[in-house]
Amino acid sequence: MKILVVGGGGREHAVAWALRRHGHAVLCAPGNPGIGRVAERLPVAAEDIDGQVQLAVEKKVDLVVVGPEAPLVLGLADALADRGVPCFGPTRKGAQLEGSKSFSKEFFARHGIPSAEFFSCRSMDEVERALAHLGDSVVVKADGLAAGKGVVVCSSAREARAAARRMLVERELGAAGERVVVEQRLMGREASILALTDGERIAVLPPAEDHKAVFDGDLGPNTGGMGVVSPTNAVSAAILDRVRAEVLLPTVRGLASEGIVYRGVLYAGLMITSDGTPLVLEYNCRLGDPEAEPLFMRWEDDPAPWLLGAATGNLPGGEPCFSPRTAACVIMAAEGYPASPRSGDEIEGIREAESLSDVVVFHSGTRQMGDRLVTAGGRVLAVTALGDDVDAARARAYEAAAMIRWRGVHYRRDIGLRDRR
Ligand code: AMP
Ligand code: GLY
Repeated sequence: MKILVVGGGGREHAVAWALRRHGHAVLCAPGNPGIGRVAERLPVAAEDIDGQVQLAVEKKVDLVVVGPEAPLVLGLADALADRGVPCFGPTRKGAQLEGSKSFSKEFFARHGIPSAEFFSCRSMDEVERALAHLGDSVVVKADGLAAGKGVVVCSSAREARAAARRMLVERELGAAGERVVVEQRLMGREASILALTDGERIAVLPPAEDHKAVFDGDLGPNTGGMGVVSPTNAVSAAILDRVRAEVLLPTVRGLASEGIVYRGVLYAGLMITSDGTPLVLEYNCRLGDPEAEPLFMRWEDDPAPWLLGAATGNLPGGEPCFSPRTAACVIMAAEGYPASPRSGDEIEGIREAESLSDVVVFHSGTRQMGDRLVTAGGRVLAVTALGDDVDAARARAYEAAAMIRWRGVHYRRDIGLRDRR
């Protein structure tokens, strides 16, 4: 097949790498230097909807796989459908599940999908009413997309008021903060469950555990994700069955009943409570990053028929085949990430790291400058390794990471530690 991957981060590198491994011709726009080794790169921005559609039509691709949420929220799937090009990724309406917290929370309520109690607020008066009802332990979320900066987990009403004021009154996040959701703070263990869907049926991928906070021990501000292990002991087979029955299938049926065309991936960010109940923290309308890196490294059969099947309303029967081994992914970040990452530092040692068996170094934020590879973003590399268990996978990933260096590099040392038995 000829497949266009839209985006240019570690997730897109993992998708392109897996498709190339199965012999497909892969194009990627805009891509990055790592992706350039497995795909033909084309200089079209992910958010350039007209440009991406033109590219797909001109290059006569069989399938477009959309990495990030922004082009989906802008209607890339709708525009491709108008030209008859299959797209793995939901329509603009479907992408609201991620693009608007109020939309998704109201959708959960309409369809009985388990989630935290919430209030959607447009003013500080409404925030006060929410706090009076929910008490002091709440989470304040900007309604719109805010690149990971729109969620504040609070321990006091004062903290919650301050966060809401920054969004609603001071407009720190611009239009994304015109509305905020104030919701009950949930306790438990987080997990990411991704399912492919053709709008009717689902194929659930193995569970993964992200590590959102920037520092070891879950300290410091939240990031886009500092590392992932898959599988994870946070999700037993019994919990996975509950997620399928209580969360994923009601979501797919709910979307269809509202006339929303949703073909792509449903990514449920879950809190698993101490008694094993899965509650949805959020939905994303795309593959997770870095969840995609370990998942596509473990994916054994050809992903293309699954992605095309989802995109065309014709998901194959059964389940895709995943390696029983564990994959661990360690994100190596630039100095200053997440607040203000520095770019332009020269990266060394990738080739040595990749000479280790069972290791792939996916590029997230890199740029080629002449013959030097330099940092170009907060999350720079996603060093991913397979092992027979979580200890072996972690050991190999950290052995590889230790061979890579640049000025100010930092990464968590405890990815997967919670998963050791
Ligand atoms: P979200 O973008 O909604 O997934 O939120 C980002 C992160 O904030 C999640 O991964 C959780 O760590 C945390 N979070 C969000 N909602 C809640 C909640 N209701 N209770 C506790 N933590 C939450
Ligand atoms: N790993 C978190 C995300 O992709 O949103």
